[in-house]
Amino acid sequence: MVRIETSTVQPFEEKHITEVRELAPECVLFLKREDTSFPVQAGGVALYGSGARKTIKGGTGSGDVNVRHFVTIEEGLERAGFSITSKEWLDKYDHLLAETRVKFIEQVKKEAAEMGINPIMYGMGKPMPEPEYEFELNGEGDLAIYVLSRISGEGADRADAEGDINLTKAEIRDILACRAKYKKFVLVLNVGGMVNLEPVMDVENILLLSQLGTPTGDVLADVLLGKSFPSGKLAMTWAPIQKYPSTEGFGDMDDTVYNEGIYVGYRYFDTAKVTPTFPFGFGLSYTKFDLKTESVEIDESEVCVNVRVTNIGDYPGKEVVQLYSSSPVGELDKPYQELRAFTKTKKLLQGQSVVVSLKYNTIDMASYDERSAAYILEAGNYILRVGNSSKDTTICAVAVLNKTVKVSQCKNICPGAQIKPLLSCRENAKEIIDDVVVHTLSADKFECKVFSYSEKAVEIPKTKECSFEDIMNGTATVDEFVATLSNEELAYLCIGLYEDGAGMGSMVGAAAKSVAGAAGETTDRLIEKGVPTLVMADGPAGIRVCTQYKKVGESIKAMDNPLAGMMDFMEPEQLKMMAEMAPKPTEEELAAPINYVYCIAIPIGTALAQSFSQEVCLRLGDIVGAEMEMFGIHLWLAPAMNIQRSPLCGRDFEYYSEDPLVSGLLAASIDNGVRKHKGCGTTIKHFALNNQETNRIVSNSVVSERAIREIYLKNFEICIRNASPATIMSSYNLVNGVHANNSRDLLTHILRDEWEYEGFVMTDWYAANPIMAESGGRKNKHSTGNPCGCIYAGNDMIMPGMTEDFESIMNTIDNPDLQYSIDRAMLQACARRVINVIAKV
Ligand code: BGC
Repeated sequence: MVRIETSTVQPFEEKHITEVRELAPECVLFLKREDTSFPVQAGGVALYGSGARKTIKGGTGSGDVNVRHFVTIEEGLERAGFSITSKEWLDKYDHLLAETRVKFIEQVKKEAAEMGINPIMYGMGKPMPEPEYEFELNGEGDLAIYVLSRISGEGADRADAEGDINLTKAEIRDILACRAKYKKFVLVLNVGGMVNLEPVMDVENILLLSQLGTPTGDVLADVLLGKSFPSGKLAMTWAPIQKYPSTEGFGDMDDTVYNEGIYVGYRYFDTAKVTPTFPFGFGLSYTKFDLKTESVEIDESEVCVNVRVTNIGDYPGKEVVQLYSSSPVGELDKPYQELRAFTKTKKLLQGQSVVVSLKYNTIDMASYDERSAAYILEAGNYILRVGNSSKDTTICAVAVLNKTVKVSQCKNICPGAQIKPLLSCRENAKEIIDDVVVHTLSADKFECKVFSYSEKAVEIPKTKECSFEDIMNGTATVDEFVATLSNEELAYLCIGLYEDGAGMGSMVGAAAKSVAGAAGETTDRLIEKGVPTLVMADGPAGIRVCTQYKKVGESIKAMDNPLAGMMDFMEPEQLKMMAEMAPKPTEEELAAPINYVYCIAIPIGTALAQSFSQEVCLRLGDIVGAEMEMFGIHLWLAPAMNIQRSPLCGRDFEYYSEDPLVSGLLAASIDNGVRKHKGCGTTIKHFALNNQETNRIVSNSVVSERAIREIYLKNFEICIRNASPATIMSSYNLVNGVHANNSRDLLTHILRDEWEYEGFVMTDWYAANPIMAESGGRKNKHSTGNPCGCIYAGNDMIMPGMTEDFESIMNTIDNPDLQYSIDRAMLQACARRVINVIAKV
């Protein structure tokens, strides 16, 4: 691990920030660009809006990155030579925000007290709605920018309210007033997710900047000056919240029923013919492109479409070409269309063109039939459509399958939810396809893959004495080593590193011993047997660790206050007590030099997905990997891959997309980038169906098996098939009544038996401990996972670890009376996967 003993900016930071600044415009897009006011020259600018000075680089919670500095929009514009003519407005807004924050905290504490809930838990991640205000728009000049921002975070969902999902009256008034008053005007969205723009749709220029990490303000300046050009596309459909089928019933404290089934995002909007404000896959740039399909090849194994893309506008740019397919309706109903492949062109100058190929496996079009527990391709027409958004596609080919085929035989998983689909599409694939070449697929040429499912684990007998080092030298196998370990040692391996009796003390982002502020670490109790620890740090918008620490003897002391974000919600007495209880630094500690760890923040997950670029994600993964390698992080707790089922989810900003292909392929690229660095891997999370934050520890997602497989697991599967994530984090929630980390169906039958995943699975933090659920103060319908249930299910590691986890495992082993009777063989199976990853990483 590199130790930096000076607080000055390091060359690696400069290099990484420059690279992020170059890549981030690929995540940015115009939602509207109806005049040619932009790009502009630097000059006077009237700058307004909540995000102008208090720019948001990313959301809150474990996804927040502690940076040295990030560039706000005000700063970025000034650095680029703009002079801001509305400083008075910005000062007034600052003042208002400070006042509003004080009132907000009081309100949160009051509500928590009334509900008998711990204010820290209740306030966690709660977005403060933007306040109403009335200040004169007195900035001078022809050019104005209004920066609308929204924040959200772990622990709370967003609200269908003014100042959150909807605009405030003041925002609507001033955005429209700016449009009328200034010659050139752009509304810039510094948001992590959807906002309802219907009231301001008259505005000619709307730029979705998103939240881009450290260089956010610089990137905006570059785009406005035309030094770089936006080339992103929406990875989620934008519409007023009432139009999403997931809105009704979203955020139920106990059971959230996924009534829309597979009709998530554009699969719903396109099929139900509901017009969104902006469709999935849509995004404008400075220039325009023409798409022409040149050739199509289809057989039983692969579909390949070659498309010529020509830049027909006045600026350079990159285009994202999207290939959708519509499947025939047979026994199963089908969405109007589903994304099968996408690719981004290289930079095309005015007039330049390029041919891109979009490919996918023919069996990717199969649907899951719950009655036969099989993936099937139904007989009929498969229509292929090429376009640059889900609303703008043209038919380029049709493939006809003569007979229904079964492409894989599975078994049903996660039983318990019989959901009548909200919508049934019977019309599909009947369009007139006269002038399109028809390709014929023969049912006889498909093979059916039959999965077999694990039985109970068998104990590995001890055959020889050996150590972890022997595995590394190739003189012993992982199994031979695992067989030498006692039950206690196996149990330790299956629990994160903890201090005896520390309870939830490590909760506050300091559960690792080796790196200050890292989220967790694997056990150090087998160090004598040569088993090293793996350090885990949060993401996904960069690496989350403490920025300053001291090394005193063998121990690491964080200098940042890991509780800082929660202190607002504490009462003065609690703060005083904390200050008194905090251990006073020893002389040795005082004398030790400070070490500095300033990682940089990259664009949030949603922005990464908006790049629709595997190359951008690979390069950003590479940057994170380089910093992991420098600072001794082995596992990055990212990418966060839950499907964006509803814009109300508070953690959507960390997540990628409503579409499993976009989410899966781009997360895979991030993993491939991280793994360019020796000893570094990712932890894809939260597996699975963690699509809301409300009562997240014990909320039950009630979903049909078809939707589970085709939507909510599909992205994890795609990521695993296209990369090699070292580990997976199971989620807090339950799935059809079974806790995700106790679900053998999810963690063994799907993950290992069907997908052949070889890494290990860890729980989310304290997800297997009732204290988390109880600390909310509410009587919940469901309970948390159980440590022994984790071992039984194939959740190999309980994080971040507590004495209680160890006791629970040791008291249960070989005790058939208990709910989850586990034995040595099961513990060995988990430990084997943990050791495998440690050896590999
Ligand atoms: C979050 C995870 C995170 C973990 C460790 C949990 O509260 O849900 O995403 O990785 O904490 O900080």
